[in-house]
Amino acid sequence: MVAPLKVGIAGLGTVGAEVVRLIESEGRTLAERCGRAVQVVAVTARSKAKKRGVDLGGIAWAKDPLRLANDPNVDCLVELIGGAGEPALSAIETALKSGKSVVTANKALIAKHGLRLAAAAEKHGGALNFEAAVGGAIPIVKTLREGLAATGINRVYGILNGTCNYILTRMEQEGLSFAECLKDAQRLGYAEADPSFDVDGDDTAQKLAILASLAFGTKVAQGAVYVEGISSIAPEDLRAASELGYRVKLLGVAMRTVKGIEQRVHPTMVPKSSSIAQVMGVTNAVTIDGEGIAPITLVGPGAGGAATASAVLADIADVARGVRITPFGRPVERLKATEKAPMERHEGGYYIRLMARDLPGTAATIANRLAEQKISIESIVQRHPNGVDAGRSAGKASQVPVLLITYATHEDAVHRALQAVQRDKVISGRPQVIRIEKN
Ligand code: NDP
Ligand code: HSE
Repeated sequence: MVAPLKVGIAGLGTVGAEVVRLIESEGRTLAERCGRAVQVVAVTARSKAKKRGVDLGGIAWAKDPLRLANDPNVDCLVELIGGAGEPALSAIETALKSGKSVVTANKALIAKHGLRLAAAAEKHGGALNFEAAVGGAIPIVKTLREGLAATGINRVYGILNGTCNYILTRMEQEGLSFAECLKDAQRLGYAEADPSFDVDGDDTAQKLAILASLAFGTKVAQGAVYVEGISSIAPEDLRAASELGYRVKLLGVAMRTVKGIEQRVHPTMVPKSSSIAQVMGVTNAVTIDGEGIAPITLVGPGAGGAATASAVLADIADVARGVRITPFGRPVERLKATEKAPMERHEGGYYIRLMARDLPGTAATIANRLAEQKISIESIVQRHPNGVDAGRSAGKASQVPVLLITYATHEDAVHRALQAVQRDKVISGRPQVIRIEKN
């Protein structure tokens, strides 16, 4: 009879409480599949008194995460506190250094300290599993690390933040405000403790940095990721995108280029007919372009207690079975430095929304500035709000939105053209620029 795997859980919030519940409800299945039982022996959180809707009877309460990590009765520390620093970092490091295995959903920590922690895991023989850190219930870490262990990878991209996709979907489909949608995402347990990590793109950047390391065998480098969030996306951009045949998604893209690895996170217009445009709500999707194989796309729930707990349990099951894989798919010392491809050389189509002076010559000025940078215009639309040209009828120049779609060009050419247009004083405010991804 194999002894049970004794688990200590640090953090009993949205994910942690669900993990306790799932181990209780799926205990028999887990034991059958792993050949041994999984038993929660100790837990910790900030407040011992808080009601969590789970039965903690018979489970020891550790005073803090470090004591839990040091508890000789714990074989595997499950860290579900979050944050790129303390107390998660010391707890995980302490557990690994004493030869315990660790399961975590903490992408902020793995993106920042993953290499140091992986080195400790490799040295002391424990597992460091972080499937839940990327893509919620989607087994993307396992797919890259194990399923595609022998496949060269050229690009990994997708929707990696459930909160942002949920917000963009509801804004587009129900015409709700950004603030209302974010509030619902928080209520449903999708958002980070500080939701600016979601909406500013940092959460996606952390996940992308982890995927890029697994895909390309490079050191995790969150600083090498170009990041823009979704807070600048206005309802008029979503409406314009829809009329032009697009939908706006926050994408994370990591790809090999001749100039190095391009890693970028930004709102992106994708054709409505594309498969990524069909991914709605809290759902995430990740596509992998591997050499010699057609693209592989994994789609599934990207956030929330149940989805995330499912991935945490799969990682615990691997620990129980005795599976030990180098955390980043190869020894840390073999990971190469990331060569960052400059974003200015990014090539693609662009959507540009300008508030332009409604006077003769304005469109020509804009078109000339784009032409000077060798940018071809695929379409240009000038709109009079409500069809009424109030400013002109009052005898002064009104401002009208001008929407442009360009053919493929370079990022720095777009910036130069728009700076020139601003200097010409034919527009007011900052131009809105959204990159277009066609495949
Ligand atoms: P919550 O904020 O819901 O829960 C955090 C838990 O950590 C709480 O139980 C809190 O205690 C506890 N905690 C906070 N600080 C301390 C401390 N100093 N010492 C001990 N315990 C502490 O977060 P989530 O459950 O949403 O997220 C947990 C992790 O999972 C994060 O890394 C997050 O990024 C990741 N994740 C979350 C997903 C989601 O959909 N929510 C999806 C994928 C990953 P108390 O309850 O007493 O306040
Ligand atoms: N806040 C994250 C999201 C949780 O919305 O995707 C899942 O990692």
